[in-house]
Amino acid sequence: MSTDKSYHMTPEQFRQYGRAVVDWIADYYERIETLPVLSQVQPGEIRRALPPEPPRKGEAFETMLKDIDEVILPGVTHWQSPNFFAYFPANASGPAILGDLLSSALGVQGMLWATSPSCTELETHVLDWLVPMLGLPQKFLSTRSGGGVIQDTASSSSLCAMLAARERATNYASNRRGCDGRLVAYTSNQAHSSLEKAAMVAGIGIDNLRLIEVDERFAMRSDVLARQIQNDRQAGLIPFFVSATVGTTSSNALDPLRAIGAICREEGLWFHVDAAMSGTAALCPEFRFIQDGVELADSYTFNPHKWMFTNFDCNCFFVAKRKALIDTLSILPEYLRNTATESGAVFDYRDWHIPLGRRFRSLKLWFVIRYYGVEGLQYHIRQHVEMARQFAEWVKQDDRFELAAPVPLNLACFRLRGGDESNQRLMDRLNQSGALYLTHTRLDDHLTLRFCVGQTNTTQRHVEQAWRGIQEEAGKL
Ligand SMILES: Cc1ncc(COP(=O)(O)O)c(C=O)c1O
Repeated sequence: MSTDKSYHMTPEQFRQYGRAVVDWIADYYERIETLPVLSQVQPGEIRRALPPEPPRKGEAFETMLKDIDEVILPGVTHWQSPNFFAYFPANASGPAILGDLLSSALGVQGMLWATSPSCTELETHVLDWLVPMLGLPQKFLSTRSGGGVIQDTASSSSLCAMLAARERATNYASNRRGCDGRLVAYTSNQAHSSLEKAAMVAGIGIDNLRLIEVDERFAMRSDVLARQIQNDRQAGLIPFFVSATVGTTSSNALDPLRAIGAICREEGLWFHVDAAMSGTAALCPEFRFIQDGVELADSYTFNPHKWMFTNFDCNCFFVAKRKALIDTLSILPEYLRNTATESGAVFDYRDWHIPLGRRFRSLKLWFVIRYYGVEGLQYHIRQHVEMARQFAEWVKQDDRFELAAPVPLNLACFRLRGGDESNQRLMDRLNQSGALYLTHTRLDDHLTLRFCVGQTNTTQRHVEQAWRGIQEEAGKL
C-alpha cells in the first residue's frame, strides 16, 4: 500500500491560503462599517443556503472562502463593528487574533505543566502581571498564596468559586457525599444569571440562592444581606458564599464591595467578585473606585474577552488561596501521573477548572498586553468611558429622553419618556436600519435602552452618528 498519498494541506498551500485569509480579515475590518450591524436574516435562511450533504471530494479553498462572503456573512451580527453598542463588547484586536492563530498552530493541550511548560508558565506570568495592572490585592499573585488561571467564561469561573466555597464550608464533605440542602448563597437581584446557573450546577439549588434587594442605584443593599444571613442562620441553614458584581449586566451598577466583604469576613463566608466587563476599567487608576474593598475578596473574575481587546474566549479568574481551589477540583487518574506533578513544583491548571483539556489562551492575552502596553490599553478604555459619559450628557440635554441609571463607566441606560411601546419601536427601527445595534433591559419596570461603548474601533464619530440616528428616529415615531 502506498504511503505517499495525502489529503493534507501542504505548508506551501498553507502559506498561500493563509495569506488569502489574512487579506480577507484585513479587508473585512476595512469594510465592516458598510455591513448591517445586526444580521437581517430569517430563521433557517443560512441552513437553506448550505448543501444538505457533506462533500465527498475535497473542495477548492477559494470556493470555501467565497462562501464566507456569500453564505456566512449575511448571518453574522458584526460584534466587531464600531457601531456595535449592544449587550457588552466582545472586542477583538489584531494582536489578539494573531496570538490566537499561533495558539491554533501550536495546537498545544496544556492540561498539565508537563504537556507544555510554556503554556502553563506564560499563563501564570501574564496573570501575575495583571494583578498590579488592575490594582488587585497581592494575595492573588502566584508568588503568594493565590494565583490566576484563564478559563473559558466568567460563568465557569464563578461556578468554580462557588464549588471551592462549598468545599471550604463543608470541609470537603460535599465532594464526597453531595450537598445536604442547607447551604445558602447570596448575590443581588441584578447579578448575572450565571450565578443562578452555578447554584444549579453546584448542587446548591436556586431556591438556596438569595437574590438580595438593591438600592436606587441598582447596587446590592448590604444591610439587607446582613439581615438575610441572620435569618438563614436562625432557620438552621448554612450561609457560605456571596457574589458581588462590579458593573452589573443590566445597568453597570457597582455593589459596595467593602461593606459586603466586611460582612463576609465577620460571618466566615467566601466572598467572590464578578467584574466580567467592568473589571477592565481598573487598568486606569482613576476608575479603581469601582473595586474599593476588593482586598477582602476570596476570588475575582473578569473577562479580557469583553472589553480588553482579546478575542473570545479569555476569562481571568483569581483566587486568594489556590489550595482551596485545587483541593476542590483535583483528581489524578493514573494516566496523568508524571514526575513534575509529583514534585509539587509546578501548577497543573486542569486542577483549577472543570475541563481537563485547555488551549494556549495566554498567547493572545500576552500579545495584547505587549502590543498596546499598559499605556495603550488605558488610553482606549479612557476614550470609551469618556464617549459613554458624553452620550449620557446628550441624553440629558434632550427633553424627550431620560437617563435611567448612573453612568459610572461605559454604559448609558436611557429611554424615551413615551413609555415601553415607543422605546421598543425606537430600538427595533434603529436595529433594522443596520446602522447601529443596541439592546434593552428593564429598570424600575420600564423598558430601557442600553448604549454600551467598548468595541475596539469605536470613536467619537461613531457615537455622534449613533446619537444623531437615535434622535432622528425618535422624531419620526
Ligand atoms: C456581570 C456579568 N457576569 C457574567 C457574565 C457572563 O460572562 P461569560 O459569557 O464570560 O460567562 C456577564 C456577561 O454577560 C456579565 O455581564
